[in-house]
Amino acid sequence: MKAGRIAVIGAGKMGETLIRAMVATGTFAQDQIVATVQRPERREQLRHDLGVSVARDNRQAVQDSELVLLCVKPQGANAVLTEIGDALGPQHLLISILAGVPTANLESVLPASVPVVRAMPNTPSLVKAGMTALCAGRHASEDHIAAAQRIFDAVGRTVTLDEKHFDAVTGLSASGPAFLYIVIEALAEGGVKVGLPRSVATELAAQTCLGAAKMVIETGQHPAVLKDAVTTPAGCTVDGILKLEEGGLRVTLIKAIVEASGRARGLLEVAAEPR
Ligand SMILES: NC(=O)c1ccc[n+]([C@@H]2O[C@H](COP(=O)([O-])OP(=O)(O)OC[C@H]3O[C@@H](n4cnc5c(N)ncnc54)[C@H](OP(=O)(O)O)[C@@H]3O)[C@@H](O)[C@H]2O)c1
Repeated sequence: MKAGRIAVIGAGKMGETLIRAMVATGTFAQDQIVATVQRPERREQLRHDLGVSVARDNRQAVQDSELVLLCVKPQGANAVLTEIGDALGPQHLLISILAGVPTANLESVLPASVPVVRAMPNTPSLVKAGMTALCAGRHASEDHIAAAQRIFDAVGRTVTLDEKHFDAVTGLSASGPAFLYIVIEALAEGGVKVGLPRSVATELAAQTCLGAAKMVIETGQHPAVLKDAVTTPAGCTVDGILKLEEGGLRVTLIKAIVEASGRARGLLEVAAEPR
């Protein structure tokens, strides 16, 4: 699909990150972007910092745009969709980043045939190392998915999946950064315990995690193969692995993903009567 203008509805943390990335990568120019927020002071800040136009209301913003990127909190989504719904039609594409809100719920409050794509980004998008999953709603085509992918490729990697996997995505890549911060914190604590200054230990731990992640992605090798390559017979690494297995790290991480995915299933839904 040809994207002329994009309306970013609810340009908070995620919305601002996406606007900055779209401009930096040339996906959209500043004059192709219109944003909305709630507070007047935030409106001024967006105008000043990002150089995009900021509309007074959501309806006005979507009227002249082909793409609509919905970035408000899930709790406020119903009111916003009711406000903009009548201004949308089959010529638009609504891309929603609302956590836990299925495409069917969004479609039920929109006029028939509005194409919807659901996106689940994560916070490392802030540093262009994000992981976003995309899925198509009932009326969205491959072209619509491609249009959404161009936006999220600007902040990291993108995969397209069946929507039935979105709770799993929420538990793994959306909650995952929090789990890994704990891992990094704990590794650094270990470094401190054996005498490293805390700042050095934190840098060593974080860069080691980054390096290991890049090895998995860039070599395409199974993590177990990469782990075996570090593990010399009778060396120090295998002693460390023994302690990890004793402590149940592997099973604990598996349970964390299962628990977070299960919780995602219960997240707030857009409570609205079908039209
Ligand atoms: N953060 C994450 O890791 C992450 C990951 C995946 C998905 N998400 C999803 O991303 C969405 C946004 O998250 P966030 O962290 O960016 O939240 P946020 O920083 O609170 O941003 C929400 C924005 O919506 C604006 N807003 C509220 N009501 C509005 C209305 N009626 N019309 C227009 N704008 C309105 C707010 O305006 P003011 O600034 O003026 O208050 C704020 O800028 C959520 O739905 C969340 O589920 C977040």
